[in-house]
Amino acid sequence: MSRATAELTEEALLAAIKACPLPRHAAIIMDGNGRWARGRGLPRIAGHREGVKAAREIVRAAGRLGLGYLTLYAFSSENWSRPAGEVEFLMGLLESSIDRELPELIESNVRLRVIGRLEALAPSVRRGVERALEATRANSGLTLVIALNYGARRELVEAIRALARRVAAGELAPEAIDEARLAEHLDTRGVPDPDLLIRTSGEMRISNFLLWQIAYTELWVTPTLWPDFSPRDLYQAIADFQQRSRRFGGV
Ligand code: FPP
Repeated sequence: MSRATAELTEEALLAAIKACPLPRHAAIIMDGNGRWARGRGLPRIAGHREGVKAAREIVRAAGRLGLGYLTLYAFSSENWSRPAGEVEFLMGLLESSIDRELPELIESNVRLRVIGRLEALAPSVRRGVERALEATRANSGLTLVIALNYGARRELVEAIRALARRVAAGELAPEAIDEARLAEHLDTRGVPDPDLLIRTSGEMRISNFLLWQIAYTELWVTPTLWPDFSPRDLYQAIADFQQRSRRFGGV
């Protein structure tokens, strides 16, 4: 974190980042809900409840800032291995949060996108998500991408399978497969690659998130646990991002 920006008030920090080019797409691995709850002697689900509040504030801040895309890793394909009660609670929470936030998403011109295997979710969760996708389809402000039952390796395998099917059907020459063609078959088709990837709670790993898309993404890890992550932290991540020199393999 740069000392100079760490000492600014939130307002001054916001003005400073607005004066420089913003990342077009920020993605966040929201981690540490369980530890936040444990630290307070509360059940893990209390951490997830607080996590929803933090997510709401970050979506609002991203919209106000004028980010083009914000991706939140809400449920990974590996999260099914958690205790059944926690998975059930998380699914209910995601369903009720999307429902509850829908009027504000519409009002603030947010367009919702979902990446991940929606078809494997409970019908009621799926219906709620589809309703929100439909209701925000024509919005032109922030695109909020929620990764739900998402796993990057599965996403890549499915893209490769789809390409292989087209080759086998004689519609596509193997030589016509390039990076752009593969990207068109990913869940994120049409979404620019993230410029900035934030991970909370201090873990230094990617956890099967957007493996293809983050090839040149700037990483920013904070020890702050997700429920404590505030708009100020987002602004600080962006301020630090703006100090980096991105070379994309060049010099
Ligand atoms: C990480 O904490 C968080 C999750 C597994 C995902 C759930 C996220 C939320 C409920 C935030 C709200 C999101 C939306 C889009 C409504 P953890 O349980 O892995 O924490 P731990 O590593 O401390 O155990």
